[in-house]
Amino acid sequence: MSTMTSSPNPFHFGRAVSGADFCPRPKLEAALREKLRAVQNTLVQGDRRMGKTSLIRRASQNLPGYHEIYVDLFGVRTIDAVVKRFATAIAEANQTTKWGTAVGQALSFVSVAFSKGGFTLTFNPARPITLGALHEAFALLKGERDGKWVVILDEFQEILKFSEEPERLAVIAQLRSSVQFLTATPVIFAGSSRNLMHGVFNHPQSAFFKAAVTLDVGPLERDAFSDWICEKFTAGSRRVNRATLERIFQLASDVPGDVQQFCSAIWEVTAPGQTFGEDSIPRALERIWEEEQRSNEDIVSKLTALQQRSLVTLAANPDLTPTAGEFVAKVGAGAQGGSIFKAFERLAEQGVLMKKGTKYHFVNPYFREWVKYRFAVDAA
Ligand SMILES: Nc1ncnc2c1ncn2[C@@H]1O[C@H](COP(=O)(O)OP(=O)(O)OP(=O)(O)O)[C@@H](O)[C@H]1O
Ligand SMILES: [Mg+2]
Repeated sequence: MSTMTSSPNPFHFGRAVSGADFCPRPKLEAALREKLRAVQNTLVQGDRRMGKTSLIRRASQNLPGYHEIYVDLFGVRTIDAVVKRFATAIAEANQTTKWGTAVGQALSFVSVAFSKGGFTLTFNPARPITLGALHEAFALLKGERDGKWVVILDEFQEILKFSEEPERLAVIAQLRSSVQFLTATPVIFAGSSRNLMHGVFNHPQSAFFKAAVTLDVGPLERDAFSDWICEKFTAGSRRVNRATLERIFQLASDVPGDVQQFCSAIWEVTAPGQTFGEDSIPRALERIWEEEQRSNEDIVSKLTALQQRSLVTLAANPDLTPTAGEFVAKVGAGAQGGSIFKAFERLAEQGVLMKKGTKYHFVNPYFREWVKYRFAVDAA
């Protein structure tokens, strides 16, 4: 029996990371800080789990003289929801009585309830929240701290998914004018739906045309990230050799969240004192699959036979274009380019696949591996 107390799993995935859980990416951090200091509104874009939120919050929280207003817009579909998220973020920026009082005075649509630790906002259900409320919130920020805030509108693409077209256009127009009105406050727009975001900021017809400069968040640099990961394993008396890590980076296409998920699984299947080698990779994969089995089976069970064959073919041939003759032939009996394309479009809408140019990729690389393994006999 070891007398060492076992250390907790240092690998985290699925939410933004900070502090010791954040592997520094000095160039990108500096680039973003430069933009913020220049009061440059910035569109931060990148694929899912690339580390956008972690990067943005780290840069804004370390910007001397500034305070962060972090608004997560995930799932908002109405103006009312946008305003509430924004007001709540403003309240969370500072829990002093003074700030609570200022917020209560500035925002006509909230009541402030003070408690020991701070204050909370309540919204009067009898009073519908309109776009004017959004302007009140921006006016409050402009009037306080000389406007020295970093406003983060994360998951901004959600605004573009409002089902009511007039409401969507109105909120976009209002946000555009509010953002311009904040002359001393840098605003960060972040999101992962490249196509949606690109349209809003790069279409001459769009309200946000040229309203922000773009910063792309790609993978962490492999060497630096490997060193950082090795140190975490070493601190937990585990060893993972370089060749194995290389294999994992490949498997995960260098997406930091996916790399960390794999490392977390490695940690769980190894004991202190052990080395994790390439031959153990299947064990870690199985650990991941145990956790994801339900959702994996859910996805597959909703597919028609043709859709399933298409997905299995894609897992085995990730570099082929689905409409190419070679791909269609591999899918086999009854397949047509058009129907495969439709199936993949649907899966892309559901977030299972991601479209890049004419090709499709699995969003979750471990689901791809599971499909390969589970349907090995069917793959061409
Ligand atoms: N600098 C970093 N160092 C270490 N791990 C990181 C870093 N940035 C991101 N990650 C990993 O990626 C995961 C996702 O990070 P984050 O939520 O910041 O990404 P995101 O791009 O905002 O994702 P989403 O598109 O889902 O909002 C983290 O939980 C972590 O595992
Ligand atoms: Mg994010």
